[in-house]
Amino acid sequence: MNIGVIGSGTMGSGIAQVAATSGCQVKIYDTNQAALDKAKDALDKILSRLIEKGRIDSEEKNRIQSNISYVNNLIDLSDSNLTIEAIVENLEIKKKVFSELEGYVSDDCIIASNTSSLSIASIAASLKNPKRCVGIHFFNPAPLMKLVEVIPAIQTSYETLETSIDTIASWNKTVAVAKDTPGFIVNRVARPFYGEALRIYEEGIADFAIIDSAMKDIGGFRMGPFELMDFIGNDVNYTVTETVFTAFYFDPRYKPSFTQKRFAEAGYLGRKSGIGYYEYDENGKIIENKGVTSSAAETSIKQQIFDRVLVMLINEAADALFLNIASAEDIDNAMTKGVNYPKGLLAWADEKSINWCVSKLDEMYTEYHEDRYRCSPLLRKMNKENKTFFN
Ligand code: NAI
Repeated sequence: MNIGVIGSGTMGSGIAQVAATSGCQVKIYDTNQAALDKAKDALDKILSRLIEKGRIDSEEKNRIQSNISYVNNLIDLSDSNLTIEAIVENLEIKKKVFSELEGYVSDDCIIASNTSSLSIASIAASLKNPKRCVGIHFFNPAPLMKLVEVIPAIQTSYETLETSIDTIASWNKTVAVAKDTPGFIVNRVARPFYGEALRIYEEGIADFAIIDSAMKDIGGFRMGPFELMDFIGNDVNYTVTETVFTAFYFDPRYKPSFTQKRFAEAGYLGRKSGIGYYEYDENGKIIENKGVTSSAAETSIKQQIFDRVLVMLINEAADALFLNIASAEDIDNAMTKGVNYPKGLLAWADEKSINWCVSKLDEMYTEYHEDRYRCSPLLRKMNKENKTFFN
């Protein structure tokens, strides 16, 4: 299968590696020759490291590299069966590239976008045949993250969707099909992990380290919210939150936080700037936070923090199911395979009990009287009918 990748930055080069590893012939196109050179060098380094770790041999490295060519004319992608675009997140620029590309490729070539925040319908509208357009959304780093969200626009044909799902699954990825709504699955359902943690901090309930330790020690998350925001970058994470908030017509559930905005404005971006919610040494390691102790009182606060963030995540996942954004299985897979959550949120809801979720949310709603804490109608209905998500 011939794959065309447009844009050889972080995502494009990762996607090319995934497709080439699975035996596809890949061409990567970029307008910037330096970006193409950088992608080629980076792949060489990544594959050499895999050899050092004993994961592949040099024959495999050669095979993967010989499956990829680097081109600087869009017309060179004309023999593609599937193209995946991963250029700058700008609708006008993407539209321009898509309509030019459509003039070169065959009628049955699928034209996909890796966009995180633009609607697939708006991108598809730039094509003469919008039925061939679909969202194929990888996670960073693409070669390591198992999940790929596949997003049909209202224009997308059944054939385009099926071929895209089959192709991505053949690349050894887990596919979750999502509706063309802001944040798709992961970037929508994950919002409370950051937002509720920031709110807890702003209320003065606990500091960053205690909130992080609650999510890791009690919940089993690999990173706490503040460590993760520092890792992603406060500028990037803030922008995603603001984009989702705006796209949802300012639903208070997605309201961004001033704390994070100020960190971004101050240049306290996290690991990449050496300082964020934590300070980092030159190797990107957190300089030990000596403030964290573990008294009995603190253990009870940590439990309250964990319960509060978890129930807000569950509420978001339940509401995504309620609004048919994706199936229950795909929502849980998305969070475990796209962002490494220790458990699927709907399975977690079953474990805690639906009644626990509804009571906890109603307790917060009673306390705050904010729409942000409204319980999903689905959870309330399931509680009345004594239902669970999976059993
Ligand atoms: P990047 O900035 O690393 O790479 C973008 C590349 O596109 C650059 O090499 C640039 O030279 C090239 N480019 C810009 N305009 C072009 C044009 N008109 N024609 C050809 N090439 C052009 O960006 P990144 O992070 O790889 O993101 C790309 C896309 O993937 C965006 O739509 C983004 O929303 C999405 N995405 C990003 C994720 C991330 O974690 N970085 C995760 C999932 C999706």
